[in-house]
Amino acid sequence: MKSQEIREKFINFFKERGHAVVPSSSLIPDDPSVLLTTAGMQQFKPYFMGKADSVRDFGSKNTVSIQKSFRTSDIDEIGDESHLTFFEMLGNFSFGGYFKEEAIKYAHELLKEYGLKIQYVTIFEGDDIVPKDERSREIWKEMGVKDIRELPKSDNFWGPTGNEGPCGPTTEIFVNDVEIWNLVFNEYYCKPDGSLEKLETPGVDTGMGLERLAAVLQGKKHIFETDLFAPIMDSLPKGMDERVKRIIADHSRSVAFLISDGVRPSNKEAGYVLRRLIRRIMTHGYLYNRLDKNLFDVENPTKTTIEIYRDFYANLDEPTIFTTPHSDIFSG
Ligand code: SER
Repeated sequence: MKSQEIREKFINFFKERGHAVVPSSSLIPDDPSVLLTTAGMQQFKPYFMGKADSVRDFGSKNTVSIQKSFRTSDIDEIGDESHLTFFEMLGNFSFGGYFKEEAIKYAHELLKEYGLKIQYVTIFEGDDIVPKDERSREIWKEMGVKDIRELPKSDNFWGPTGNEGPCGPTTEIFVNDVEIWNLVFNEYYCKPDGSLEKLETPGVDTGMGLERLAAVLQGKKHIFETDLFAPIMDSLPKGMDERVKRIIADHSRSVAFLISDGVRPSNKEAGYVLRRLIRRIMTHGYLYNRLDKNLFDVENPTKTTIEIYRDFYANLDEPTIFTTPHSDIFSG
């Protein structure tokens, strides 16, 4: 299944079940507590907190989106088989419309439609403050899932993004040893001092990384072999080290998406993240070009990225990276 079909299937499944389709928000969030958009729930924070009304804004208590996301925390992991800086997150959300039962049933049904068999799921084991998630266990059991593992807060409790916001216990779904889908039950508001307050209306926030799902559905060993990456990887020199190829492929996608959302290289915040990624691409390119006579053009992987994504992300026009002065990239 091609990645575009995976996206369409996800959106249509939830649209047919009364979810309003909401476009991805920018990678630059409308929220000073975070540098970049890290999850699908970012743009929906006010709806979880009861500060905005999703029926008024979207015509439904339930929404579905494919969110452009970026995680700076993973920059140093890039080069392995699963970490990325930029990725697309498929998610369904509910702001007081439905809760655990429907969320788990939807996930179970959709994975079946994708032809996937759930290997095991995890639930929150509970702690002094938040009880064990018995309800999720019951629902999974009803669905016929036998392997249900209990994990602590570090694994099965999500949020908040930034230093405060909605958060709650999660149930995670694994297929072929890959964690593919995270269902968060936002029952709490985490205050800046770390204390939890019950939200007036609990909500649902799910997230499934498109790249990982594509790897599983396309029968690939890892994300870099999927149709989202193969053209970029194939465009890199044959003799280049695999890890370096992955770093260049990951960073080139991120550079294209950050620039298309208005980030420019600078010495602070998101601009610094962008500058760092460009420098890393150029450093790896420079080292390779010194070692090998098959010189390659460091701009090519970013151009290939645009080819792969321009039909789905209309604002991904020719990024101005190709005209960014070197002084913006190398000074500061
Ligand atoms: N916010 C959760 C995550 O990022 C679920 O979408 O995993």
